[in-house]
Amino acid sequence: MKDNQSILITGGAGFIGSHVVRLFVEKYPDYNIFNLDALTYAGNLENLKDIESKSNYTFLKADITNSSLINELFETYKFDSVIHLAAESHVDRSILDPLAFVKTNVIGTMNLLNAFKNCWKDQYQGKRFYHISTDEVYGSLGHTGFFTETTAYDPNSPYSASKASSDHFVRAYGETYGMPYVISNCSNNYGPNQFPEKLIPLFINNIINNKSLPVYGDGNYTRDWLYVIDHAIAIDTIFHKGTNAETYNIGGFNEWKNIDLVKLLCHLMDKKLGRQVGTSEKLITFVKDRPGHDLRYAIDASKIKNQLGWIPSVTFEQGLEKTINWYLNNESWLESVTSGTYQDYYKKQYT
Ligand code: NAD
Ligand code: DAU
Repeated sequence: MKDNQSILITGGAGFIGSHVVRLFVEKYPDYNIFNLDALTYAGNLENLKDIESKSNYTFLKADITNSSLINELFETYKFDSVIHLAAESHVDRSILDPLAFVKTNVIGTMNLLNAFKNCWKDQYQGKRFYHISTDEVYGSLGHTGFFTETTAYDPNSPYSASKASSDHFVRAYGETYGMPYVISNCSNNYGPNQFPEKLIPLFINNIINNKSLPVYGDGNYTRDWLYVIDHAIAIDTIFHKGTNAETYNIGGFNEWKNIDLVKLLCHLMDKKLGRQVGTSEKLITFVKDRPGHDLRYAIDASKIKNQLGWIPSVTFEQGLEKTINWYLNNESWLESVTSGTYQDYYKKQYT
């Protein structure tokens, strides 16, 4: 790869994308980093305020479902590589509006693949298309076992079906057209700047505001949690050291049942907010289960650990502490993203 390459990062105004953009802009001053984002409800340029004036950073407002615009941008900027994160990413919203997920996650990915292919016309030396995916494509585990890179795809939600479909197209473009690609499938992320529709930031926001904590079903669902900056570091590692046409699973070696995680969060928040321990737990409310709710995700991340030397750098305790502190110190960010249409979504989802 060239020292001064142009990298297109899609979805860079979102949660994980903003951490990836910051890491690349700061760590690689000779790269030109282009952040392409449609700024949907989940995209927020406030997430990148600290780096927006850097000379190696450019923001492009564009929708990946617009194929002619995407082709034009490739013609103009000749991106050497793509790190593709833009997506509709929330399972509950995919149950309310599946087609929006097909449009962005499947058609949008196809548009990027086609633009990349048209731009380089089989001259792929030093180029790379890196597709960011999820462990949800593997479906649900029982109480034991782990997802490995060879686990068969078995998606259960419209979100995971759309991500699985996009993974297949990326792989197919590699096989059919010789496009150099790499894919990673990561477990649940948490950390600063996550939109408060996902479990951890939603519950932090509700605890701050003394609102009920809606635990789906009996709360005995298990997820493997990874601090977002460790995901960004894994993406940097795979982008630079991963082998073409390979998949890498990324996980936190950190499984939690939802109900245990929520109780821990309540305990830590009570201490931070100076409330009597036990206060926030009283907000827990068991609500109607998510349809098609996957029982358990757990990642075997030994391939990336053994082959590329990546392991998480923070413990869950450290990551959760940093996360809670960030939300408490950034209440205006929380307030701005939870006004307006957030309230409409909340009513639709929870009442
Ligand atoms: P997010 O919802 O916070 O951000 C998505 C970003 O994509 C937003 O900035 C949004 O504006 C942008 N976007 C959406 N539709 C677009 C379109 N049509 N054109 C251009 N931009 C568009 O998502 P996230 O949690 O940061 O996830 C990023 C990626 O990582 C996704 O591909 C997701 O599937 C994957 N992933 C997420 C997690 C997780 O726990 N959050 C775990 C594994 C993989
Ligand atoms: O596993 C990776 C995936 O993790 C990513 O691909 C997705 O983009 C990301 O959204 C996340 O999906 P989940 O569905 O696991 O995350 P979510 O935060 O929505 O839910 C986590 C668990 O908490 C899940 O078992 C559902 C439960 N839950 C969630 C919400 C929002 C509740 O019990 N109550 C809630 O209000």
